[in-house]
Amino acid sequence: MVSTLFFIVLLRLTWAWGPLGRQSQGNGTVDNNGQCTCEAFLPGSTFPMGELVLVEETAVEIQHKLELEISKILTYESKLTIYVEKIVNLTVRIGLMEKDPDSFNELHFQEVKTEIKQVEALIIELRASIQTSSSTLKVLRQEISSMTVVLTRLESYDSNRVLATRREYIKLQQKLEECERRHNEIFNPNIGSCKHGGISRISKPIISQLNAHISNSYIYGGWGKDSKPLPGFESMYWYSGQTSTVMTHINLYSDYHRLILRSAFKSHSYKDYPNNGFRGSGNNYIVYANYFYYQCYNTASMCRLNLTSLTHEARALPQASLRFSYRYSPDQNFDFAADESGLWVTYGTESSKGNMVIAKIDVDAFGVEQVWETSVFRRSVGNAFMVCGVLYATRSVDIHTEEIFYSFDTRSGQERYLSIPFEKFQENYVNLDYNPTDQKLYMYNNGYYVSYHVWFNQTTANTPQLLI
Ligand SMILES: *[C@@H]1O[C@H](CO)[C@@H](O)[C@H](O)[C@H]1NC(C)=O
Ligand SMILES: *[C@@H]1O[C@H](CO)[C@@H](O)[C@H](O)[C@H]1NC(C)=O
Ligand SMILES: *[C@@H]1O[C@H](CO)[C@@H](O)[C@H](O)[C@H]1NC(C)=O
Ligand SMILES: *[C@@H]1O[C@H](CO)[C@@H](O)[C@H](O)[C@H]1NC(C)=O
Repeated sequence: MVSTLFFIVLLRLTWAWGPLGRQSQGNGTVDNNGQCTCEAFLPGSTFPMGELVLVEETAVEIQHKLELEISKILTYESKLTIYVEKIVNLTVRIGLMEKDPDSFNELHFQEVKTEIKQVEALIIELRASIQTSSSTLKVLRQEISSMTVVLTRLESYDSNRVLATRREYIKLQQKLEECERRHNEIFNPNIGSCKHGGISRISKPIISQLNAHISNSYIYGGWGKDSKPLPGFESMYWYSGQTSTVMTHINLYSDYHRLILRSAFKSHSYKDYPNNGFRGSGNNYIVYANYFYYQCYNTASMCRLNLTSLTHEARALPQASLRFSYRYSPDQNFDFAADESGLWVTYGTESSKGNMVIAKIDVDAFGVEQVWETSVFRRSVGNAFMVCGVLYATRSVDIHTEEIFYSFDTRSGQERYLSIPFEKFQENYVNLDYNPTDQKLYMYNNGYYVSYHVWFNQTTANTPQLLI
């Protein structure tokens, strides 16, 4: 209840962002009829002003639609709160009736029946509204994504008006994410739960923006959130990006907004004396429980950096080989992953002939707890991540599409070939990880921050109507 109230306050604040402003330069004049005309000075004759105007107008429309969705979600929430109370009451009363049926008359039973019917009606109504709402959010997400692509193209004209519009889109994206998250919470209040039948589909990509270096040459990197944050650091984001496969720094941002504004509260790098030992190979690192886990530079050891003290330590990973990188990039010999059950690292070994090996990490001892050997050749894999103890491996379908083609369940030892395609923003990517705190995938896609929502096959024990 407290989190609901908090969220409502948050939404109110979000609303206070107000309508989108339009940037225009020039001298306004008022003619005899009181009509105001304004001369605009275009940044250049080749600038595609029509496209920008369209993007701006679409932003205003999306803003209105999102506000409508937010108000609907608030309505669902308040209705749900009332009905949860009713159900609790009903449960208590039915319990009393069962214990001592004789002290209740027909009227009491009728009353309870009526209330149950009311609750049923609400559930039917909510289910219908949520379906409409889901598809609206999906359309909005597509609109924002395609306009962001247009903006990225317009950014080469370096106009202030493009930058201002870009900022509005970042706000819209945040609002949409908040909306989707809230929506998911009502419908899929199962974050942290593994009572599902694995991944069923992956959403459209949510493109945040180019990396903090604002450079297309920083293609080796990763970004995301701590998969097991310390209290107070739940909204922290991290980013590390390089122009080569040598990892030399990490930035921390207190929230999504600061990430987008490229305003880090902490930055640690190889150059900083006296921390010269902080250097890694490859780019499949992760942040887990306030540690940054990465492959130590040029050795078959795993390293971790305490993000508070900025001290690091190393542990040899027995048998791990540096010869079986992923398909898209060299030096991706270790891939760290975190899920609902803890921290993992995957790699290839000589004895597995380069097939992927999954190791569960004992975080306290910083050692390997258990190892599973799979039958998927590591060099054929684009990237991999873990969800609920299941490894998912990806490969390329075409320049716009990636697919999850293989899974290995460490709980049963069962492996499967499957096909769950998802869209890439740009062809190449080097870092893909699942985060159990929000059930999202984080991808570092050719220098861009990209994320995805993950949907699961719901098992009967876990159907949405049990949410209240
Ligand atoms: C407005 O007009 C004045 C006088 O013609 C000119 O000096 C000034 O640069 C104009 N302002 C803009 C923003 O174009
Ligand atoms: C729940 O039951 C109590 C007494 O049993 C009653 O006072 C209260 O109004 C009920 N609340 C709702 C929402 O029905
Ligand atoms: C989820 O269900 C779909 C449709 O039945 C199936 O194609 C897919 O393989 C399932 N996913 C997993 C991980 O089992
Ligand atoms: C990281 O370093 C801080 C400061 O020295 C220390 O308090 C903390 O316990 C360390 N974290 C872990 C998980 O050991």
